[in-house]
Amino acid sequence: MTQIAGSSTNKRLHIDVHLNGDGILETMADDVRLGLSAPQKWLSPKYFYDDLGSNLFEQITVLPEYYPTRAERKVLEDITDGLMSHLRPAEIVELGSGSSIKTRVLLSAPSAADHLRRYVPFDVSEGIVLSAAQELLLDYPYLAVHGVIGDFEHHLSQVPQSNGRRLMLFLGGTIGNLHPEQRTFFLREVRSLLSEGDRLLIGVDLVKEVNAIEAAYNDSAGVTAAFNRNVLTAINRGLSANFEPDSFEHWAFFNEVESRIEMHLVPAKQQRVRIPQLDMSLTINPGESIWTESSYKFTEESIRRMLGSAGFHLEHLYTNNEPDSLFGLALASPAN
Ligand code: AVJ
Repeated sequence: MTQIAGSSTNKRLHIDVHLNGDGILETMADDVRLGLSAPQKWLSPKYFYDDLGSNLFEQITVLPEYYPTRAERKVLEDITDGLMSHLRPAEIVELGSGSSIKTRVLLSAPSAADHLRRYVPFDVSEGIVLSAAQELLLDYPYLAVHGVIGDFEHHLSQVPQSNGRRLMLFLGGTIGNLHPEQRTFFLREVRSLLSEGDRLLIGVDLVKEVNAIEAAYNDSAGVTAAFNRNVLTAINRGLSANFEPDSFEHWAFFNEVESRIEMHLVPAKQQRVRIPQLDMSLTINPGESIWTESSYKFTEESIRRMLGSAGFHLEHLYTNNEPDSLFGLALASPAN
């Protein structure tokens, strides 16, 4: 664990590092071996987010077809002042904080300087957390920042002891990347980090007209296709594999039975791939695919059920109304 502390604004900065490049690569080897040995080949969406992939995702968030980021921001802007002045949290812990851009909405609430003392961003990327923290310290003089660098499937227990009433954030709809059993496990761990009076605010994409959902994952500029193929580039780099990303086609569709977008990569013709670091060779035929992501879409009922199974009570589901509810922010409290 590395701690970075220093002078001036840095007196208010503390960063714990529980991951390094090698740590990520270790889980990559195990995950890729497991996924590519399965009858339906799959890869974990967490490997999308290398530097290029993070950049492509930033581009996705401003595409005309990709509604979630804009819709979530609108809901957050609408509810922030009321939420902050009513709840008066002493700290905000944000899982998957990234560049913390949306968090600024909350930090800028009129009441924030009166009650908020600390921001705890939790993310896999040390570089992004460090630069976000430095900018926040300049812009919010009342705030201390305690960053935690880790993978939220492995290092949640490293979130520091609470300093007062805690508001936990998990924005962006990332919960939708987890399958039902995975998200119950994850949310139970999140529940264990909260006490009475604390709250969880979680971003959830909502079920809506299929065309609108599918368009968001099949943009006309082809950015989502590039994002999808980039997972193969990330695996080539991480495990010295020889995937040819351009020989795969992007395929994304809404699976109505499971209520999820599925993204796959489909080979245009038979592919033979070597992965020396796993001592693995594989053949992928045109009738097959590599399943690279699920993005579940929810209803108020399925949100209530998901939260309930992890020991949370759904207090309120905030949505935009323009004219359809596109995206939700669910406010949940720990049940006892
Ligand atoms: C970051 C997981 C919320 O599922 O919509 C965007 C990722 N994948 N386009 C999503 C993503 C394809 C995104 N999340």
